[in-house]
Amino acid sequence: MYLEKFKLDGRVAVVTGGASGIGFSTAEAFAEAGARVVITDRDVHAIDKACAALAVKGYKIVGIAMDVTDSARVAAVADQVAANEGKVDILVNNAGIARSETPAEDVADEHWLNVLDVNLNGSFWCARAFGRHMLARGAGAIVNVGSMSGFIVNRPQPQSYYNASKAAVHQLTKSLAAEWAPRGVRVNAVAPTYIRTPLNEFADKQGEMYKRWIDGTPQARLGEPEEVASVILFLASDAASLMTGSIVLADGGYSCW
Ligand code: NAI
Repeated sequence: MYLEKFKLDGRVAVVTGGASGIGFSTAEAFAEAGARVVITDRDVHAIDKACAALAVKGYKIVGIAMDVTDSARVAAVADQVAANEGKVDILVNNAGIARSETPAEDVADEHWLNVLDVNLNGSFWCARAFGRHMLARGAGAIVNVGSMSGFIVNRPQPQSYYNASKAAVHQLTKSLAAEWAPRGVRVNAVAPTYIRTPLNEFADKQGEMYKRWIDGTPQARLGEPEEVASVILFLASDAASLMTGSIVLADGGYSCW
């Protein structure tokens, strides 16, 4: 009765930015739970590599090239997936960029707009396009990948644009949740700490910044992508049927201090 609710048999799940890091692990988690998984990404070669890696594990994943900042393309892919798979049950808005370490006073317009475009606009274009298909069927679950940076200000690296974009993703999550709850669509977010993915490769593992990250975390370590994927799996599944508008911290305790 309980474990059954974590399964995704027969569900169609779309993961944006699914070719790497947290998105890749989420695709694997969903496939293991029984879903038919579509990964989208702007990096076509990475999609091929990701699909091949998951095929080795016995999972047949569909890969589609899609830049989340291109709203027309997002709408076309949403229609394509709904037509090919018959429906869309789950969307994970995972595609994101950080471009950390630029002091606010030095941030160029292009830099600010780029980060907001991918992290915030992209999440909205996808939620709108895939959400329309969910609303039409009266069922669906969207999980946005926010960040602890939507709650706290990271130290020591300056990244005002990233923090602002993730706080906006959290508020978008609650807004969509409230609007769409009466029509059967749940919208939640996960807010991770530093996770061991390419996004964080700018930090020297022997350096002062990395040390500050670890020292600032009660669990005294980075998270692994699979540890975020399991939270996303929970939020996307019927096990989280009472949850909508929740921003779930998965931060090793970082925000306790
Ligand atoms: P990653 O760099 O390993 O993967 C991100 C993926 O998104 C890549 O495959 C990339 O090609 C894709 N992508 C980037 N821009 C895109 C666009 N415009 N359209 C389509 N695809 C695009 O990064 P990671 O760490 O797995 O990040 C995933 C999400 O998790 C992001 O939203 C990030 O902000 C969030 N996050 C990551 C944390 C970390 O410490 N790694 C902490 C908190 C949140």
